[in-house]
Amino acid sequence: MTVRVGVIGVGMIGQDHIRRLTQVLSGAQVVAVTDVDPARAQSIADGLTSCTVHATGQELIGDDAVDAVLVTSWGPTHEEFVLAAIEAGKPVFCEKPLATTQEACRRIVDAEVASGKRLVMVGFMRRYDAPYQAVKAAVDDGSIGAPLLMHCAHRNPSVPPYGFTTEMIITDSAIHEIDLVRWMFGEEIVATTVLKPRRNSNAGDDLQDPLIILLEMASGVLVDVEVSLNIRYGYDIRGEVVGEIGTAALAETAGAVVKSDGRYAGRVPASWQERFVRAYDVELQDWIDAVASGGFTGPSAWDGHLAAVVSDTCLEALRIGQRVEVASHERPDFYTKG
Ligand SMILES: NC(=O)c1ccc[n+]([C@@H]2O[C@H](COP(=O)([O-])OP(=O)(O)OC[C@H]3O[C@@H](n4cnc5c(N)ncnc54)[C@H](O)[C@@H]3O)[C@@H](O)[C@H]2O)c1
Repeated sequence: MTVRVGVIGVGMIGQDHIRRLTQVLSGAQVVAVTDVDPARAQSIADGLTSCTVHATGQELIGDDAVDAVLVTSWGPTHEEFVLAAIEAGKPVFCEKPLATTQEACRRIVDAEVASGKRLVMVGFMRRYDAPYQAVKAAVDDGSIGAPLLMHCAHRNPSVPPYGFTTEMIITDSAIHEIDLVRWMFGEEIVATTVLKPRRNSNAGDDLQDPLIILLEMASGVLVDVEVSLNIRYGYDIRGEVVGEIGTAALAETAGAVVKSDGRYAGRVPASWQERFVRAYDVELQDWIDAVASGGFTGPSAWDGHLAAVVSDTCLEALRIGQRVEVASHERPDFYTKG
């Protein structure tokens, strides 16, 4: 079966996902697009075979020719499109964040549970990254002993000087690590503290960059996340789990380490698109395969909701400058099945 996909929001990642659905992956066809910028939607459709341009996301979701929906519009619009897809009974892949508040995420969870069918996958693609999977395998198979600590760094060369707020360092960037460590250790985050180191002078005037975010896991594992968004030298994602008898770290480079003339060198990725290109491919193929077989896969609406709960807690910790406990939320049985 070819899954006929409708894409809502054809900006940067929307176009990148359309490219992979049409040129890299198998089993999918992009049959409809929409964007608040209709000219952009039209130009994308013009480059595809038999692709309809819809005036709104709601209209696209209602199109009988659309089997499944890909939401890649701005975060604040995600809730209405994901709810509409659930209402229409159509599988929906939503880029992170699932929604911009935990209340909105909860409304999505409640709607999905009421529908009785798992329809929502959230785009936390790091779970599909081979280096992270190798670290998790070392944690799970006991080769480093019980995990005690994890050191993470999320380093971006730059962000726009205006419009990117300190809060977005948590809600837009660290949200990836928040989901990642829940997956890595198979347990919940119970408390958080946010620290403000010396400010990078490359950052915009209002931006507290970098931040250090401490995440306490239920078992006592302590995770520190450095988020640096104007570090210039490259896009550098680091992660090292310290266990009782060993450590497991992301490899230094996906390419070759070249040794010559008494030196060694490797490439630092330039962007998130380069660093995670394969993870996005694997993630989206997994979704297409699940939709084609009538099943579900990947990070769920519940994962999206819990990420929002923790990120809201980090915002509170940033605001008051103190450790804040994460309110516990009981997972509906619906999300433990399958
Ligand atoms: N998983 C990841 O690593 C990752 C990476 C980049 C972006 N994202 C997420 O993807 C989403 C999009 O990010 P982007 O960088 O592509 O942004 P972008 O601004 O480049 O693209 C968003 C597009 O959505 C359109 N849009 C906005 N509101 C709309 C609406 N109501 N209906 C239809 N179209 C609408 C905009 O016109 C724009 O073309 C964000 O939620 C972002 O957080 C995730």
